[in-house]
Amino acid sequence: MNSNSETLGLRRFRSFGILTVVAVYLLILVGGVVRSTGSGMGCPDWPKCFGQWVPPTEASQLPANYKEVYTAQRVAKNQKLARTLQRLGFAQVAGSIFAHPTQYIETDFNPVKTWIEYVNRLLGALIGVFVLLAVVFALPYWRRDRAIFWLALASFLLTGVQGYLGSLVVSTNLLPVMVTVHMALALVIVALFLYAVDRAQWGRSQAGTTDAAATTANLVTPVALVSPDTSGTSMAFDASATSANHTTSAVNVLAEDTKPAASVLGWLWAALLLTFVQIMLGTQVRERVDIVSAAADYVGRENWVSQLGSVFSVHRTLSAAVLLLNLYVGFELWSLGKARLHRLTQATMVIIGLEIVAGIVLASFALPAAVQPVHLTLATMLFGVQFLTLLAVARARKSPEMMVSPEAARRVVA
Ligand code: HEM
Repeated sequence: MNSNSETLGLRRFRSFGILTVVAVYLLILVGGVVRSTGSGMGCPDWPKCFGQWVPPTEASQLPANYKEVYTAQRVAKNQKLARTLQRLGFAQVAGSIFAHPTQYIETDFNPVKTWIEYVNRLLGALIGVFVLLAVVFALPYWRRDRAIFWLALASFLLTGVQGYLGSLVVSTNLLPVMVTVHMALALVIVALFLYAVDRAQWGRSQAGTTDAAATTANLVTPVALVSPDTSGTSMAFDASATSANHTTSAVNVLAEDTKPAASVLGWLWAALLLTFVQIMLGTQVRERVDIVSAAADYVGRENWVSQLGSVFSVHRTLSAAVLLLNLYVGFELWSLGKARLHRLTQATMVIIGLEIVAGIVLASFALPAAVQPVHLTLATMLFGVQFLTLLAVARARKSPEMMVSPEAARRVVA
């Protein structure tokens, strides 16, 4: 492979990776719409929808006994799953799947809900294709940084598992534990993929910064450009070498000065874990909402929040801890004076602010359907941005010279 086509191959993975991450977030948003509109059971079977690749638009296109047919299919699939789990030793989970009453609920055909769920599935399938292509596009990294290929492959395999879990969410008729596991796995996939793209991006900027550092050194110490051949004297060459060494050590001193402390990385891990816990708690709150709303026959929405119980109180209170911890971490990162960390800190704080406002609106205005997907998507975006910050800080600790801009280096040497 010549170097041009190699560079193209490497760039293709990075651009495509970013596109895939955006598509995954779009899928999370659409997933939120599916839920807030109650369309999760819009297609009672999987992967087809009412036994068709393109779902019907009217009930008349379905057999008269469609409700019994699809409920029976779902129950049969769950029994198969429960038997497998039992054989594997997960008797308790198997028992809860057998016993869960929601799977026996017969769902009426509603074309709007069916098509919302269908669009959700199409987007899911498209992401499957995107992630597969990302694995192919990661092949050029095999020689340069094998981890990128493995990360892309792991994301692809887990996306397959996620699709299967999605089918179980449907067949168990939104069995609570499935919804939470589905969410946790979505975050793991986002993290793996962001890591792969970030590593690929980092490889490029590493090359870029080396060039920039060289340029800086050349600009500030023109004598370093003098080669022994053109100067004709070894003294001139020695002088240039000494000057270049001074430049390098000055840049290194500057880099060490701005290297984030190990404790910052520790706090960042704590903030990321806390967000993960808060998201898992959020899904528990949402499961409570499902139970309360079903018990109320989906009427009297204004009374649901007051019945959410302790899980909601903990979720609400924990958001103050998420905010405070991130304010502290943000302050520490800000004081390092690095543009990338500034941008990531700003993004984190804006997302947390919006997320808390969305939560307060949900709690105070009887769970407006339009805000539900926003609250969900912001939560996963927060996790993604915190994870990117963690990667940036971990990298800056390993190679602090990457944090020094050519301008800063120029100032120090001057
Ligand atoms: C950093 C802060 C927060 C994060 C990361 C977060 C995250 C989440 C997540 C992931 C869900 C599940 C959404 C779904 O599955 O559709 C959720 C649900 C919920 N959260 Fe939060 N949340 C935060 C703050 C708050 C606050 C401050 C409140 C209220 C004062 C709140 C109220 C709710 C309510 C009522 C639900 C259920 C919404 C529904 O059923 O769609 N959240 N939260």
